Amino acid sequence: MRVLSIVGARPQFIKMAALARAFERHNGLGREPIESIIVHTGQHYDAEMSDIFFDELEIPPAAFNLGVGSGPHGRQTAHMLEKLEPVLLQTRPEMVLIYGDTNSSLAGALAAVKLHTPVAHVEAGVRSFNRRMPEEINRVVADHVSDLLLAPTRTAMENLEREGLSRRAVLTGDVMYDAVAAHRQVAARRSSILGILGLAPGTYALATVHRAENTDDAERLEGIVTAFNDIAGDGLPLVLPLHPRTAQAVRATLPRWSPRPSLHVIPPVGYLDMLCLVGHARLVLTDSGGLQKEAFFLGCPCVTLREETEWTETVEAAGNIVAGAAPAAIRAAVRTWEHRLAGGVPDFAAAASTSFGDGRAADRIVQALLAAAQGAAHVGPAADETAAINTTEGARC
Ligand code: UD1
Ligand code: UDP
Repeated sequence: MRVLSIVGARPQFIKMAALARAFERHNGLGREPIESIIVHTGQHYDAEMSDIFFDELEIPPAAFNLGVGSGPHGRQTAHMLEKLEPVLLQTRPEMVLIYGDTNSSLAGALAAVKLHTPVAHVEAGVRSFNRRMPEEINRVVADHVSDLLLAPTRTAMENLEREGLSRRAVLTGDVMYDAVAAHRQVAARRSSILGILGLAPGTYALATVHRAENTDDAERLEGIVTAFNDIAGDGLPLVLPLHPRTAQAVRATLPRWSPRPSLHVIPPVGYLDMLCLVGHARLVLTDSGGLQKEAFFLGCPCVTLREETEWTETVEAAGNIVAGAAPAAIRAAVRTWEHRLAGGVPDFAAAASTSFGDGRAADRIVQALLAAAQGAAHVGPAADETAAINTTEGARC
């Protein structure tokens, strides 16, 4: 079976890494092999936003890099569509695999479906119910044109059911949980980021910001970076690996803003350093979908810098406070966490595995792809493949 994965942005490389391992495991069992072809749209292109993930996570190199780069939504998506079509015609995959909710996911789904190539969507059914988010449009369109909807959580399955899509949906668990389970101990061995930054475990907060709703709105951006300086000034050093979009927005709209010495603004880091930073942080402040989940998986309290979250399980399990972008609200959420932490470090491990799976989502996806190719209705991991998988327990990082 020939499966073509279309990726282009940082979180997609991490999701793809889990699938790459699952394809290897499947092929190692001597069954009908899966030929995996990777297409990189070029949406993210800086070494620290792309190459580092292929290297660290040992993802096989992309067979095609479309070099699309940055641009407004219409132009970026259109360039991807234009360049994907000949690749699909040349490679003739039996299934196209798209991941998450970026413009690369949308273009991949549209390009394939117009050529009558079946599409499977990893992380299907995720909804914020905020149609002003570009990602929400990408998800809804991708889900409705996809043939196989690979849902990470029960909430995602319920969303698909509400949209009349449940017959195409399979609950697989979350591949980002797989990725954390597979790499947390590697991160603990290899990352030296805490030493480089001169920080001790449990003594700092970790922050990321990159969503359009925060970077493209000067008031929200100012509120967030003001809160970061306040928190760092109150005695909790803060590490901020800055997305290039946010770096540009700060330069353009807040040229006079300057971080305090205890606010460590650093370039984007690789996945292993990131797992180590999350695993040892006192708390995380973020508008990233992936990072909200990783904080939850690794038992780190989270403050979400948005008005809503797709990952409602993290809030229901009291692991995440949705604070928005106003400095007073962000500071209040941090105080709430300090108060709760005084009673002990929370343990979300059980809630994380109940909601997001058991670290075998990618293997279930492989089975779902094979079943879909054979036209079978039921999918689930084969017993021997299940036995071959090891989930990793251990330290937070
Ligand atoms: C994209 C996704 C978002 C995802 C995020 C992950 C869309 C609509 N958005 O947002 O869902 O959460 O990736 O990080 O697909 N840039 C660089 N170097 C790079 C990449 C980007 O400098 O390697 C800068 C460019 O100025 C670019 C800006 O970042 O214009 C935004 O990049 P883009 O890929 O359009 O969107 P993201 O904000 O990264
Ligand atoms: N990430 C990383 N380095 C960074 C920032 C994020 O490795 O400097 C990882 C993070 O751990 C998570 C993923 O990138 O696995 C999330 O990507 P991002 O926040 O860019 O996108 P989102 O998940 O919001 O779509």
